[in-house]
Amino acid sequence: MAKLIPGTKDILPGEVEIWQKVEETVKNIFALYGYSEIRTPVMESTELFHRSIGEATDIVEKEMYSFDDKGGRAITLRPEGTAPVVRAYVENHFPQKDPFQKFYYMGPMFRYERPQKGRYRQFHQIGVEVFGSDNPFLDVEVIAIQNRIFKSLNIDNIKVKVNSLGCKECRPIYRETLIEYLRSNRESLCETCQNRLEKNPLRVLDCKNEDCQKIIKSGPTIRGHLCDNCNSHYSTVLSGLNKLNIDFVEDSFLVRGLDYYSKTVFEFVNTNLGAQNTVSAGGRYDGLVQELGGKPTPGIGFALGVERLTLLLKEQDFQIKPPMFFIPLGENALNAGLEIIEELRDNSLPVIWTGKLSSLKSQLRHANRRESEIVLILGENEVDKKVFLVKNMRENWEKEVLWKEVTGFLKDLYF
Ligand code: HAM
Repeated sequence: MAKLIPGTKDILPGEVEIWQKVEETVKNIFALYGYSEIRTPVMESTELFHRSIGEATDIVEKEMYSFDDKGGRAITLRPEGTAPVVRAYVENHFPQKDPFQKFYYMGPMFRYERPQKGRYRQFHQIGVEVFGSDNPFLDVEVIAIQNRIFKSLNIDNIKVKVNSLGCKECRPIYRETLIEYLRSNRESLCETCQNRLEKNPLRVLDCKNEDCQKIIKSGPTIRGHLCDNCNSHYSTVLSGLNKLNIDFVEDSFLVRGLDYYSKTVFEFVNTNLGAQNTVSAGGRYDGLVQELGGKPTPGIGFALGVERLTLLLKEQDFQIKPPMFFIPLGENALNAGLEIIEELRDNSLPVIWTGKLSSLKSQLRHANRRESEIVLILGENEVDKKVFLVKNMRENWEKEVLWKEVTGFLKDLYF
């Protein structure tokens, strides 16, 4: 028997309703902020990710699903959504035509990571990318959108960590200072950090090793090295977050696993998720559009991990209301009932049936399995009287309701 590839999963009925609820919620929220959907291919040229995410990152060094196609092109299954959206933005001439754009996307991403709770090789992101403005209030808005998503889904225990990574003026100076400091402590760093030190020193700040953490905490911070422009941008972001009452913590050692960021970066973390506790993350990338061949255009965005979000929703016992269950007892009842249940659906009332004319007991068992609370029984007797026997399985009562009154009756009962 063929088996699932490790790190991938089927999303089956029972769980898929949670995904649909998430998708519906975010679409409504994106509409509030004026975002349009963009859909880009799942595969892109490998070079796109080398140039955007950065050569010395875990994603590019170890985690990409890359292959040569039959035409000899180097192809990669997208490990994230930002670079493809930037490519599409540049390739479709938005920088010249209409630079200010707000896009959202949802879909699968691929990274060859070690599978564990909340970490998959095919996972799904919901993300946004905003182009054409470097206004710090957009950074606040992008953080506020994520906050609104979590609030709408009643997810608490979530905090956003924020930091600024500076720009191409001030970050190189910090980088040098950091390298010098880390070199002088090289012996006490773990092996990975010793290797990262010269190639990608900012990633050292992300190390979880306790000895490394001690060294990092007494080292130089980026905040202390921000140029005036980055400093004032960051202060405005923080005051905007305060103004909107968004619960945030400043983390001056927060860095990201992708190289394209500048200025504001953030991560929404939840303490219930264990090691993979970042649910949503992103930041500003003012140099990326130019890096990928467009006119200099600022950008900012985030991506939310749908698997991690649904894990949180499942922990909260997230409930979707099951449909009502139609139980026809015999051909005659089915004939009489079909038209009426179609009318219920016209009125947004969900109704299902087994598709088989089995016994009452067997159909009730099905209704139970689908957790339907309300069943609509139609036997010969009911057909004669032009009624449904409406049964509430949870509250354990039943009532005969005339066909011509059943829509109104069920609307009150179901909603
Ligand atoms: P990222 O931090 O690499 O950022 O991923 C964003 C989110 O995707 C993570 O916080 C996590 O929830 C989810 N995620 C990442 N890897 C996995 C995995 N292996 N399994 C399950 N979930 C995962 C980005 O991808 C940037 N493109 C975000 C961004 C958009 N920055 C600006 N715009």
